Amino acid sequence: MWNPIIVALDVPTAERAAALAAQLAPVVGAFKIGKELFTAAGPDIVRRLRDTGAPVFLDLKFHDIPNTVARAVEAAVRLDVQLLTVHASGGLAMLQAAERAAQDETRRLGRPPPLVLGVTVLTSLDDAALAEIGFARGTVAQVEHLARLAVKAGLRGLVCSPRELAALRQLLPPEIQLVTPGIRPADAAMDDQKRTLTPREALAAGATWLVIGRPICAAENPRAAAERILAGL
Ligand code: C5P
Repeated sequence: MWNPIIVALDVPTAERAAALAAQLAPVVGAFKIGKELFTAAGPDIVRRLRDTGAPVFLDLKFHDIPNTVARAVEAAVRLDVQLLTVHASGGLAMLQAAERAAQDETRRLGRPPPLVLGVTVLTSLDDAALAEIGFARGTVAQVEHLARLAVKAGLRGLVCSPRELAALRQLLPPEIQLVTPGIRPADAAMDDQKRTLTPREALAAGATWLVIGRPICAAENPRAAAERILAGL
């Protein structure tokens, strides 16, 4: 059965990430490594997590000149990650270079290409913050604009917030995969998340993958928490 749960391993050390991964690997769909863990633990943590057999999502949100991003994507492919992120605001040429690098490097290695996911507008930014950095559109229009740009560049997936799911599903080709954080089971603490959906609601709204961190990793029994979420989908 398809398991859409991506566990965000937002922990500061390789040891904690590896311990969580060992118990969670049989019951989740993938592990997400973000900037904190990658900066602390280095590329070796990708290999350790891949050794559990689970797919790895390297969430480093690349944003640079096209050549630099292409070389970084190739390095991620050689680490054998299955999903990775780039900022859609890096521009069409950067997005095309990222997708091409992912395709070319995996073909060379005889592997399936990773899903290169476009990040549109960070949910920490509101209309006023966008205006401040010189983006004329509001957040909703900017998300849709960048989503179209990412798809035009050949990306096959996007990261989006729960409240963007419905509009993006209307706008984008159905095969585009949508990866959604901001997920909270009905009985979980909100932490600092504000507009959340439950796992079921997010899938019904069109999410392909659900990124879930604290409701699993900070639970007393992470494996039981993941199993409960899976059983409720
Ligand atoms: O613990 P929690 O479930 O809130 O973790 C959500 C994960 O998704 C974190 O790794 C967070 O950085 C990431 N994320 C998010 N909201 C976004 C983009 C990414 O919560 N808009």
